[in-house]
Amino acid sequence: MSTTFQLETTTSRANPTPRPMKRLTVPKIRTRKTDGVTGEPLVMLTAYTARQAQLLDQHCDILLVGDSLGQVIYGLPSTVPVTLEMMAAHGAAVVRGSYHAVVVVDMPFGSYEASKEQAFESASYLVKQTGAAAVKLEGGAPMAETVAFLNQRGIPVMGHVGLTPQAVNVLGGYAARGRTDAEAETIVGDAKALDDAGAFAIVIEGVVEPIAIEVTRSVACPTIGIGASSQCDGQVLVTEDMLGMFERVPKFVKKYEDIAGIIGNTVASYAEEVRNRSFPSADQTYQPKD
Ligand code: KIV
Repeated sequence: MSTTFQLETTTSRANPTPRPMKRLTVPKIRTRKTDGVTGEPLVMLTAYTARQAQLLDQHCDILLVGDSLGQVIYGLPSTVPVTLEMMAAHGAAVVRGSYHAVVVVDMPFGSYEASKEQAFESASYLVKQTGAAAVKLEGGAPMAETVAFLNQRGIPVMGHVGLTPQAVNVLGGYAARGRTDAEAETIVGDAKALDDAGAFAIVIEGVVEPIAIEVTRSVACPTIGIGASSQCDGQVLVTEDMLGMFERVPKFVKKYEDIAGIIGNTVASYAEEVRNRSFPSADQTYQPKD
């Protein structure tokens, strides 16, 4: 699938935002936390399509093209099978649909772990194909050298510690992390290593709250929590989860709407009208001109 199309701006469907806004930058996100203090928490949501990006953009500081798209969009059992090509296609769509937020694209499993050179090849492919400003990768201290390597070569990196879903086969599931002293120590050490390596922000996922707070206090860059703590420097959720698209969601998700219910009711109305022939009506049909 080609990812090189430009945003078509001549129709309102392609470009419903009336005034294109100036896009935030990675340094602006990084300096939202200065000397350990974050004024306004960072707002991040996942986005996978151009239309979704258009709707989220003005409300968010960061749009994350998460590899969670494997489960949310493609119905895959985990994020492990997600490919670079999937991330590039969806990343490009999200960049085309946004003007304001910093777009960060997840590096999929297998595209960066082997070496820092492999990581640069994959990350440069993603930023070239999508126009995104940064990439995100999972893992702590073992990834620090890679984070520094990418950063020094022009690719800002967001880290991701705690529950790292790409490691599901090692972790054995998606349970919260940091319940034992050893685990807690590892998570704090991981975050510090990424911070020292130059990560501009770090996602803390599925971690018991005191450890999330300790990590937030221990690192200079902003932390973005998901299943972590309101004391993190920002928050992220999978958009479809918070919109109520799925019946089953993790404990840390707050459903702000029941979009699945709205879609179900709307489609039921459509189906009924098709079956009783009340759709299409005169309003939706073409008649010959006199
Ligand atoms: O893939 C993703 O959506 C993520 C967020 C849940 C942080 O990594």
